[in-house]
Amino acid sequence: MQSHRGEWSSKIGFILAASGSAIGLGNIWRYPYIVGKNGGAAFVIIYLLIVVIIGLPYMLGELALGRSSQKNPVGAIGAIKPGSWWKGVGYLGVLTGLGILSFYGVIAGWTVGYVFKMFSGAPGNFAAFISEPVQVTLLLAFFIFITAAIVHGGVSGGIERWSKILMPIMFVLMVILIIYAVSLPGSGAGLRFYLMPDFSKIDGNVILAALGQAFFSLSLGMGLMITYGSYVTKSDDLFSSAGYIVFFDSLIAIMSGLIIFPALFASGQDPEAGAKLVFVVFPELFMNMPFGAIIGGIFFILLSVAALTSTISLLEVPVAFLVDEKKFHRKQIVWVVAGIAFLLGLPSALSQGANEFFSNFGLIPERLADPDFLSQMSFVFGDFSLAFGALLLSIFIGWVWGAKAAAAEIAQGSRFFGKVFNIWVIMMRYVIPLSIFIILLNLFGLFN
Ligand code: PHE
Repeated sequence: MQSHRGEWSSKIGFILAASGSAIGLGNIWRYPYIVGKNGGAAFVIIYLLIVVIIGLPYMLGELALGRSSQKNPVGAIGAIKPGSWWKGVGYLGVLTGLGILSFYGVIAGWTVGYVFKMFSGAPGNFAAFISEPVQVTLLLAFFIFITAAIVHGGVSGGIERWSKILMPIMFVLMVILIIYAVSLPGSGAGLRFYLMPDFSKIDGNVILAALGQAFFSLSLGMGLMITYGSYVTKSDDLFSSAGYIVFFDSLIAIMSGLIIFPALFASGQDPEAGAKLVFVVFPELFMNMPFGAIIGGIFFILLSVAALTSTISLLEVPVAFLVDEKKFHRKQIVWVVAGIAFLLGLPSALSQGANEFFSNFGLIPERLADPDFLSQMSFVFGDFSLAFGALLLSIFIGWVWGAKAAAAEIAQGSRFFGKVFNIWVIMMRYVIPLSIFIILLNLFGLFN
């Protein structure tokens, strides 16, 4: 046992921390705009199918690898297959954590900016706000700083306690906003768009987007659940914990769609608006409500908190790696990693109009991602890298470590996993790697 690495204080503590990682901008900012871009209800169905059939069993694989080895992704893979190239998959995860943190921190910074804008009662123009270089840079620095301060001080005490208080408040606020949005005149078209499927809109790219969104939203494919699983005790039930995490994450995503789309159609806006959806539609909605400035300000505080529990987890992966494997002191290395994440985030921060070059970066083809640097980072790290990492990790867990050994780890402490033991083994070895592989082929245009 390496108890100095720390353990979750309880099963609830683990579920909260992992749900905190999963629930974030991915659910409230990214999910609605991905749904909007990919045709609405039919996408939602494909998305939920992928979450249950691929996301949940895959999450169990990562958690099992973490708990069994009690190590970060690089260390966990190295413990099972010492001195092989498989360790590279762990390094890819560490790099992906940094890559996501860099652009995620930019958007999280915007949410902090909107706290002040909402309280001021005049949110103003979003495009003007994000193209202002000094503001966005300071907000990015601020968010990365808070993240690092918390990871520096250790996560369990403060963040677990605050998640317990703030997540329920966010939930209640979301329910109020759903009721409000659905009651707006003209909202019905939004509900139809969101809830009545038109399967003619489904093609390979839509399925790729659903898979990418599922992995992103559930924090899968970069070894985060390996890291968080490494802090779980042997007597905990991984199976039911993963069930809760997946359920909470999907619930919050679905709820945010029930606010966004009715409001969007009621105010006559375009569901394909992309990344700016939440920042344009929500403020407008709030400003038409009684006490809207206050409720809107509180909403963006909670969105910032949801983002914070995710950035903490993103920073924790490279930090855990450097502390475990390279024997750095957590309290020092945290600031170095945070500094790198900030520098890596600068081009994304300046890519929304502040700087011409980064705003029209365009390295990744137009059919895959918008030309601005932030969208390109989001595609490379938020979509491709997670899917590619998940493909390699599922092969590693299913074949190199062995799905039976992994399943035995999950069964330990679980009351019900025995019933699905054999099904899970087949999923891990065949269904998950094959489906990710086919979807990735599609990414390279082989089926187009
Ligand atoms: N799941 C987080 C969200 O939805 C983002 C994230 C991805 C966090 C990968 C950690 C790892 O906002």
